[in-house]
Amino acid sequence: MAGMIKEAFTFGLPKDAEEIRQEVFTLEQGFAPEIDLDEHDKEAWHVVLYLDGYPISTGRVFPEDPETYHIGRVAVRKKFRGMKVGSYTMKFLCTKAKTLGARKVVLGAQLDKVPFYKTLGFKEQTGEIFDDGGAPHVMMEKILVKPKYKK
Ligand SMILES: CC(C)(COP(=O)(O)OP(=O)(O)OC[C@H]1O[C@@H](n2cnc3c(N)ncnc32)[C@H](O)[C@@H]1OP(=O)(O)O)[C@@H](O)C(=O)NCCC(=O)NCCS
Repeated sequence: MAGMIKEAFTFGLPKDAEEIRQEVFTLEQGFAPEIDLDEHDKEAWHVVLYLDGYPISTGRVFPEDPETYHIGRVAVRKKFRGMKVGSYTMKFLCTKAKTLGARKVVLGAQLDKVPFYKTLGFKEQTGEIFDDGGAPHVMMEKILVKPKYKK
């Protein structure tokens, strides 16, 4: 992909992230807007990736506890998919979580997106499938900092 990619993090939901999410989750995937926009948005760091100034992807990360951060709402505008933009977006979110002190990141993956997250080193937790907004999901996790064990 030609052009310059730049990331921007915002605490609280920026307009560009909201627009991408509305396009992808509400219009394309059919989730209700009141399910997509939730109470975590105001306590999350949101990233937007810009290609030559145009917003092409987003995602958010917020703490579940001081060492466990939750990634979600990862979305790439349709015509920019399949070019590693989603992977870059995830990498920025994992790095942000690590900077904030996370040892582990977790996420609820749409079932058909599990292979995408596996390419980034995520593993399924229990494998239990749950409903979120009418779509089947499964919890996945990635260890960022290995625990140190005393001998
Ligand atoms: C899922 C999503 C974020 C992936 O972004 P992307 O930029 O297209 O993904 P990448 O190009 O970084 O893909 C990396 C790898 O993951 C895999 N992958 C990507 N999307 C996949 C999908 N939908 N199903 C299965 N595997 C997928 C591919 O194998 C790809 O590797 P490749 O180099 O062999 O092609 C994007 O398709 C999207 O925004 N979808 C709509 C919103 C959504 O469903 N978000 C996730 C909610 S859990």
